[in-house]
Amino acid sequence: MLFRLWESPAGESPAARLVPDGVARLVPDGVGRLVPDGVGRLVPDGVGRLVPDGVGRLVPDGVGGEHLLVTRHAEVRAVLADPDTYRPDNALDAVTPMPASALRILVRHGFRLPPTLANNGGASHPAIRAEVAELLHPHSVAAQRPWLSSVVRRRVSGVSSDLAAGRSVDLHAAIAADLPLLVLARLVDLPEAETAAVKTFARAALELFWAPLSADRQNHLATVVGEFHTTLRDFAAHGDGLAARLRAAGHGPDVVAGALFFLLVAGQETTSQFLTLLMHRLATTPIPPDARTADIVEESLRLDTPIVTWRRVAARDTTLGDVRIPAGTSLLLWLTAAGRDPAVVAAPDDFRPGQPGSRRHLAFGAGAHRCVGASLARMEAEVVTEETRSLLRSVTVLRAPWSPDNLTFRMPDAFVIGPQNGVPEAEAVRPQIGHRHRRHAGL
Ligand code: HEM
Repeated sequence: MLFRLWESPAGESPAARLVPDGVARLVPDGVGRLVPDGVGRLVPDGVGRLVPDGVGRLVPDGVGGEHLLVTRHAEVRAVLADPDTYRPDNALDAVTPMPASALRILVRHGFRLPPTLANNGGASHPAIRAEVAELLHPHSVAAQRPWLSSVVRRRVSGVSSDLAAGRSVDLHAAIAADLPLLVLARLVDLPEAETAAVKTFARAALELFWAPLSADRQNHLATVVGEFHTTLRDFAAHGDGLAARLRAAGHGPDVVAGALFFLLVAGQETTSQFLTLLMHRLATTPIPPDARTADIVEESLRLDTPIVTWRRVAARDTTLGDVRIPAGTSLLLWLTAAGRDPAVVAAPDDFRPGQPGSRRHLAFGAGAHRCVGASLARMEAEVVTEETRSLLRSVTVLRAPWSPDNLTFRMPDAFVIGPQNGVPEAEAVRPQIGHRHRRHAGL
């Protein structure tokens, strides 16, 4: 392992047993105390106040890179709002440099990641973004809501039956894992593939590009990502919908496949992760009964966002606050810290739906690259909140979701609950992801 794993004291829950120090090690030495955040990651104590001027000094990522850590809301927002000075070119760069062996595997599968969406600071970005945005128009998203509500209601009813029978349930697998992919497939033409295969590919991609890794692991992940990429390339050449529209607009096969690649990862895996973190929040934090669903979702996005950090690179010598930044510096924007900045939110560390500043989080980024799926993610989260909220008030958390070491994504795994006063963790059952993805399936 390139990153050190810290053993927590004996007796702590297994969810927090191996505590990764990926993001945590970015904290400048001697500033702030590190504490477990309950989902397996160390976060600084009082994150928003961690670096007094909001722009830290260069900190190592533990795998050979250095980043300028930006934590305060105002500075994070300023960077995101200025794509000319702070370009998005490094957004998808591999945190752990790829060895020649992994690169060979990717090349063998024809894998390329040209600038398309999040990593595209060039002239082609607005048009590619507009194609995607049209498919995710708020009207189209709203039209999916009744269908989604009925799917989630049926699933929650199954969960309730299991709990009533004394069985434990993994809510990540039972509700969150495949749901965003099923919704996405109703909005965007995607290649025919099993849900489980898409999930495996997407999680492999997040690990390959954002985790600290050994060379063996990189080779394995490169194989998984490369094999799925051949499916994407084939769809990019012949598929309908977005693929056809990008082809018609004159984009070459690498760009079409690259856009599909990003959409398949960003458009469903992030939301799956968020739904799991949100349900964990609903099960563990007392929420006033009159709290509005939309306010609960916003407050959870602020505190539980699945994307902890995002990167930009300085295009020229510049200054941020009073910190001089040479051209080429990688900036690590700590989105969760910005969401807890006391300058914008009244009670930064408390979960208070509707509190002043709650909506000013930067979970979806900002500016020209702001998340184009934000309204879709919000709609899905609102439906899940509506359908699970009352159930989750009276369950036992048997296993909190655990997040592996990753610079950017939380990637929570199983979240196991049982009936109130339920069984101990060792007896918890973990269902498999069993659904097969079929476009327009009436699930
Ligand atoms: C809770 C779920 C989600 C979170 C937290 C999230 C967060 C983000 C963030 C932080 C960015 C980078 C923004 C920037 O650079 O300023 C981004 C970009 C993007 N997201 Fe999301 N996202 C989520 C769900 C989705 C969904 C559901 C879709 C589509 C179906 C989507 C599609 C995209 C795309 C296409 C971009 C690139 C936009 C561009 O560069 O123009 N995301 N997202």
